[in-house]
Amino acid sequence: MTRTLTLTRPDDWHLHLRDGAVLRAVLPETARDFGRAIIMPNLLPPVVTGADAAAYRARIMAALPADSTFEPLMTLYLTEETDPDDVVAAHASGLVTAVKLYPAGATTNSASGVRDVNRVRGVLEAMAEAGVPLCVHGEVTDPDVDIFDREAVFIDRVLDPLRRAVPGLRVVLEHVTTADGVDYVMSAQAGLAGTITAHHLVINRNHLLVGGIRPHYYCLPVAKRESHRQALRRAATSGDARFFLGTDSAPHTDGNKETACGCAGCFTAPNALSILAHVFEEEGALDRLEGFTSRHGPAFYGLPENSDTITLTRHETALPAADKIATGDGPVTVFDPGFALHWAVAR
Ligand code: NCD
Ligand code: ZN
Repeated sequence: MTRTLTLTRPDDWHLHLRDGAVLRAVLPETARDFGRAIIMPNLLPPVVTGADAAAYRARIMAALPADSTFEPLMTLYLTEETDPDDVVAAHASGLVTAVKLYPAGATTNSASGVRDVNRVRGVLEAMAEAGVPLCVHGEVTDPDVDIFDREAVFIDRVLDPLRRAVPGLRVVLEHVTTADGVDYVMSAQAGLAGTITAHHLVINRNHLLVGGIRPHYYCLPVAKRESHRQALRRAATSGDARFFLGTDSAPHTDGNKETACGCAGCFTAPNALSILAHVFEEEGALDRLEGFTSRHGPAFYGLPENSDTITLTRHETALPAADKIATGDGPVTVFDPGFALHWAVAR
């Protein structure tokens, strides 16, 4: 018997589209199934000003398939030189949805990120006042902090003090990877949410490191131990509106992944929804998938839910495994969940 599941069209609250040839190749993979996505600004050079965001948005719109109604929700990359007036104006005009905080050096193309959050206090206060959400890459970069501890330490040392200093600021703790992150989001009274990726619901650090190093499972924040993955699965499938989907689909060409110093990022745009349906079915929570993919995000951002739907179909036979997509810069490997997928978006 074929089973189907119809959902309000999902949104992706954390997505890397890149630029140029990679943008043109990966954008249709998201635009096919998602209504909107929060577009990460970590280009080289980064998307810092309202003018940068307008130009990047125009390049995305030009790369969209002709019949697409996909809407990119633009973000600005916070630097210690960011002008609060520019942020507030870009948000007020509807051009920009949120601002992204990268601790300097935390991840791909984050060299111009923030070294000391006290230096951006004025911008954060202006954002709180104007209702501009802050999306946070929650990892410290101190060389003395173990990479597996960087999220938990960031919450204690940076995020909690920041939220206390600017209490009106709406904050998204992005790509939560630890039980500590889940607990912190759940401890907040208001104004804090957490996004969760599809891949962190599937892999733990053994998948990355046991039996040979798997560069396509290397992402940041790095996958943690199994107990953390279980905490993420409980949070995502709990129905708690403070958690919603941000795939963090982060394409890098195979040449940049399969090398002595490979880039961080899992490319999940083509199969994120199939993987999520699989995970939610395993957890007996298919009835909560729509909240996670389509309702909790708009509620946090104060946006309407998408007005149309998608239908997922469960096929008896496994879907062909996603492999690579070709781009003008070389192939990009699609995330392999390590199990057969049966749910597919009906087209
Ligand atoms: C992202 C990228 O490649 O831009 N990489 C990743 O592993 N997630 C950056 C990020 O979100 O950390
Ligand atoms: Zn990301």
